[in-house]
Amino acid sequence: MASGSDTVHSNRTNAILGALLGTLLFVQTVRIIDESFSGPEKPHAEATHKATATEAAAKPAATDPAAFNKLLASASAERGAGLVKQCQICHNTEEGKGAKIGPDLYGVVNRPVASVPGFNYSAALKAKGGNWTFAELDKWIEDPRAYVKGTSMSFAGLKSESKRADLVAYLNTLSKSPAPLPK
Ligand code: HEC
Repeated sequence: MASGSDTVHSNRTNAILGALLGTLLFVQTVRIIDESFSGPEKPHAEATHKATATEAAAKPAATDPAAFNKLLASASAERGAGLVKQCQICHNTEEGKGAKIGPDLYGVVNRPVASVPGFNYSAALKAKGGNWTFAELDKWIEDPRAYVKGTSMSFAGLKSESKRADLVAYLNTLSKSPAPLPK
């Protein structure tokens, strides 16, 4: 019978060990779940905080089409010609030159968004819709990655609204029939 009681004994030990392991597993799982819930919270809160901070900082410049039109009326395409150099790293600006890292900007004003044939636009830009009006270009150039989330244009943005007006006035000259600037 000794072997019988041994079996009972070891069964009980197994049960106790099992219960212990079970508890440890449970505690570990709870810890993991807890971490996975509290983990992303911090960066999220930070991101929200940052977004609010940039929003606040960008407020005076932000995208009021009327204010931008006023700036455009007195913008300098000559100054814009200097500013466009930072775009020419990735964009051609002459007719028929084709794409570099980004599509050709010749004739971009009032062109439908993401419409250069054969250029591999991001899904985000393809989904944007509309035309590159002065106001849309203003918002885009200010912060492309914030305006069209998921765009492949890695350009930090031009924060000065008057510089954006100069640049857009210059982009408008890249055409056989430039659109009339607002008066
Ligand atoms: C680091 C490279 C890079 C720089 C610098 C850059 N771009 Fe771009 N640009 C791109 C890419 C890539 C795309 C395509 C984006 C997409 O598909 O999401 C693009 C798209 C665009 C479009 C949309 C064109 C269309 O056919 O819909 C405009 C307008 C534009 N850029 C203007 C500018 C201007 C103005 C500047 C300078 C202030 C500039 N870009 C600087 C890479 C760049």
